[in-house]
Order: sequence, then structure tokens, then C-alpha cells
Amino acid sequence: MFWAEFLVIVGVLLSSIFVFTDDPVTLFSMFIIQLALLFFLFYYIGKVRDVDITEIANIIRSIRLNSSMKAEDIQLNPTLGLVEVELKETLVKIQADINYLTKLERMRTEFLANVSHELKTPIFAITGYLETLEAGAVNDPKVNAHFLNKAIQHTENLSSLLNDLIDLSMIETGEMRMSFRYFNLDEFINPIIAEFSEFLEKKRIKLLYLPEKPGLLVYGDKKRLKQVMSNLISNAIKYTEQGNIKIYAIVMARDVKIVVADSGIGIDPDDQMRIFERFYRVDKARSKEIGGTGLGLAIVKHIIDAHGSKIEVKSELNKGSEFSFALKM
Ligand SMILES: Nc1ncnc2c1ncn2[C@@H]1O[C@H](COP(=O)(O)OP(=O)(O)OP(=O)(O)O)[C@@H](O)[C@H]1O
Ligand SMILES: [Mg+2]
Repeated sequence: MFWAEFLVIVGVLLSSIFVFTDDPVTLFSMFIIQLALLFFLFYYIGKVRDVDITEIANIIRSIRLNSSMKAEDIQLNPTLGLVEVELKETLVKIQADINYLTKLERMRTEFLANVSHELKTPIFAITGYLETLEAGAVNDPKVNAHFLNKAIQHTENLSSLLNDLIDLSMIETGEMRMSFRYFNLDEFINPIIAEFSEFLEKKRIKLLYLPEKPGLLVYGDKKRLKQVMSNLISNAIKYTEQGNIKIYAIVMARDVKIVVADSGIGIDPDDQMRIFERFYRVDKARSKEIGGTGLGLAIVKHIIDAHGSKIEVKSELNKGSEFSFALKM
């Protein structure tokens, strides 16, 4: 803006002549010169603003067309500092929004691919067994009961997968109604453990429930927390070959920390960050053999979040894993 300042200074200097003369010709010519200076001043300011506006328009166009543009690339005339800051912040926000949407889109595609894959497996198996039975195996007493049993097992897998998916979608859309109450922790945990007795005996694993005090009262949604405990206990059994599983209830300042600890295969630190993602399984081949779809911990995380708590994992490969969360007392 050097020229603008120069023209203003010349204008002010010329004005001082009005004080020293009363010659009408001089006054009139001074007046005309002042008018001309004013004209040039406005013309110059207009020109400079034109350049600025064109530059701003170019930057906005670049933001729209060029997603790789960086905030440092935006440089405006120093008098437009505020506009520069706003443009930079707009660029950063737009880029963050685009990244978020791209990530969501990728997650949606992956989710659909996973769901279709997981649905396909049991449906193919059921169709296979039924077609074999229809083709004649139904009259073969050596295989018919076995094939029927297999078909039923896969139907059960399918139904549990669908239930998990329905739960997840209800939690994520906020449709799942929670019903919070105080309940007795021992009366809640002991029957769940009893449901796993057959699996524990089969694997010769002991499960010990070790509350710090008997009869602790905790606050939460019993039905949903049963899902959490069942998932954690079933994982502990699935991924433990020897040793035992311990469930601790530790009294903290305002809550009770519930810990499910096993002496199983453990989880690598890189995988620990991902096991709560939908469909994530550490060892795909092994998990397929053991069963499960990788939705269990995703559901656990959502339910514990809804209790205002956080599910945490501590684990060491070949030593064991510990999953814990807190419930209000
Ligand atoms: N206690 C554990 N010890 C070792 N690995 C575990 C343990 N719990 C979970 N994992 C790992 O985390 C993965 C995700 O667990 P998650 O409960 O979500 O799925 P899943 O048990 O494979 O299937 P689902 O629970 O849907 O039947 C498991 O496949 C397993 O690799
Ligand atoms: Mg599981």
C-alpha cells in the first residue's frame, strides 16, 4: 500500500497551502489537484483490492479442486491476515472432513464384505449338507444323523451371528434401551460361570471367582452385562489351553473393578489395539477352527462404554490376558 500512503501525504501537504494563500486561482488549482489525488487514491485502492479478490478467488478454487493443497500454501497480502487465517482453517477442516468420510466409506465397504463372507460360510455349509442328504445320504444310517447335526450346528452359528449383528446395529443407532439397576455381583456372576461348566470340564480348566468382599452391590444393566461376562469368559476359555481363569472383583474408591484373567495364548501389543474392532480376529485360521466371528469384543466395548466405563486389556504373548472394566457401586 506504499502508493496509497504516498498520495495521502502529498494531499495533506498540499492542503497546508490553503492556509498560506487566498489567491482564488491558486486555491482553485489546488482544489483540482486534490480532487485528482483523491481520484488516483481510490483508483489505486480499487486496483489493489481487485488483485486481492482475484487471489482469494483463486485460493478458494484451489481448495475446491485440489485436495492435496497445504495450509502453508495460502499466503495473502498482510492487510488480509484475518482472511488468510479463516481460509487456512477452512482448508484444514475440509481436509479433516474428507478424511473422516473416506474412512467411514472404507469401513462401510469392509463391514459389508465381512458380513457377506460370514453369512456365506454357514449358508454354504447348510446347503451342502442338506443337498447331500437329499441326494441319498438321508437313507445311510452311518452319516445321516451326523450331517443333520452339522447342518443344525451351522444354523445355530448363523442365528448367533445374526443376533450379534442386530445387537451391534441397535447399539450403534442408539435403539438399544438400557435398564440400569443395583444388583448383587455374586448372584449375577455365579450362574454365568455355571453355564460354562461343561466347556471348562472338557478343557480341564478351572475358573475361580474371587470377589474382594462377598455380596457387593453394583450398578448397571444386568442383561447387557451378562453378554459382556459371557463373551469375556468364553474368550478366556477358547484361548486358554492350560492353567486357570480368574474373575476378580476389586473394590475401588467409587466402583468395583471386574477383571477376567486367563493364562492362555496372550495377545500381541499390535493386535491389542484392534481386537475391539468389528470382525477383527488375531489368527484367522485358528479362530475359524475355534469358532466365532470377531464381533464379541466389539459388542463388549459398546456395552461397557454405555455404562460410562472403559474396557481395558493387558496381555503378554504365551502368558495370558486380562480384560477389565469398572462398575459403579
Ligand atoms: N482372552 C483372550 N486371549 C487371547 N486372545 C483373545 C482373547 N480374547 C480375545 N482374543 C482375540 O481377540 C479376537 C477378537 O475377540 P472377539 O471376542 O471379538 O471375537 P471371537 O471370540 O473370535 O468371536 P465372537 O466373540 O464373535 O464369537 C479373537 O479372535 C482373539 O484372536
Ligand atoms: Mg469372543
